[in-house]
Amino acid sequence: MKLAFAGKGGVGKTSVTSWMADWLARNGHNVWMIDADTALSLGQASGLDPESLPLPIISRKDLVHERIHEGGFLNLNPDVGDLPDDLAVDIPLSSKPLPGIIPGRKRLLVMGGLTNAGGGCACDANALLKAILAHVVMDSDDCVLVDLEAGVEHLGRGTVTYVDGLVVVTEPSLRSFQTASDVGRMGLELGLDNQAMVINRYMGGIPPDLPHLPKWYTTIPPLAGLVERQMMDGNVLSLPESDEIDIILEQLVKQMGL
Ligand SMILES: Nc1ncnc2c1ncn2[C@@H]1O[C@H](COP(=O)(O)OP(=O)(O)OP(=O)(O)O)[C@@H](O)[C@H]1O
Ligand SMILES: [Mg+2]
Repeated sequence: MKLAFAGKGGVGKTSVTSWMADWLARNGHNVWMIDADTALSLGQASGLDPESLPLPIISRKDLVHERIHEGGFLNLNPDVGDLPDDLAVDIPLSSKPLPGIIPGRKRLLVMGGLTNAGGGCACDANALLKAILAHVVMDSDDCVLVDLEAGVEHLGRGTVTYVDGLVVVTEPSLRSFQTASDVGRMGLELGLDNQAMVINRYMGGIPPDLPHLPKWYTTIPPLAGLVERQMMDGNVLSLPESDEIDIILEQLVKQMGL
């Protein structure tokens, strides 16, 4: 299962990605979390200290030079098979797996923004990101969850060509649903019809009748435990509401086809 998470700014993309990755690993799946957001928040949301966050790959000039400008030539299709293992950090699971389940590995790759990665930009750092993403998504049997930057423009071919599902995260507000509708349409245009919507901070009501909103959706209520914690801590795992979140995530994972 290889999923991208997209939606308007601040709606909860990173939180949902983090919850799903942890659920999958606790249930025995190996997971790659790909932070494709310039804000680099997926590690923190998963409980990593800011000091332990790896340098974003996009800022690794040494690597870009070594792989893309190999031997003085421009190689936009570099061999990157060794890089995901070398560059990823292991993230501990939030709690013990269920009895009888061997937990999976949860690993984080911090890209630093996939902007234009598939948009015909010949920028060398983007070529490296694109090659690494393609490698992780296509050549691995593990689950891959890509947390995208806010908006729709980042839902470029570079990311979506490789994933097999799109999770559209939204808040219960018209503007957020409008972005969700744009995201859904762009996903469909790129051939991605395995889509689900997560309405975060949901308190009731029916979603507006906008075109291209994913038909299937689930909801997450405002989480008092998270509201209380987030002033001091970016970690969204191990909340008082974690059992409730697990049930929602299990439904979402099944819907996406695992
Ligand atoms: N259901 C919820 N209840 C309360 N707080 C929430 C809930 N979901 C997310 N949050 C909080 O809302 C804030 C934004 O969430 P998050 O970072 O996951 O959004 P995002 O869509 O990834 O944002 P960005 O567009 O900036 O990347 C965080 O502080 C998070 O802790
Ligand atoms: Mg985010």
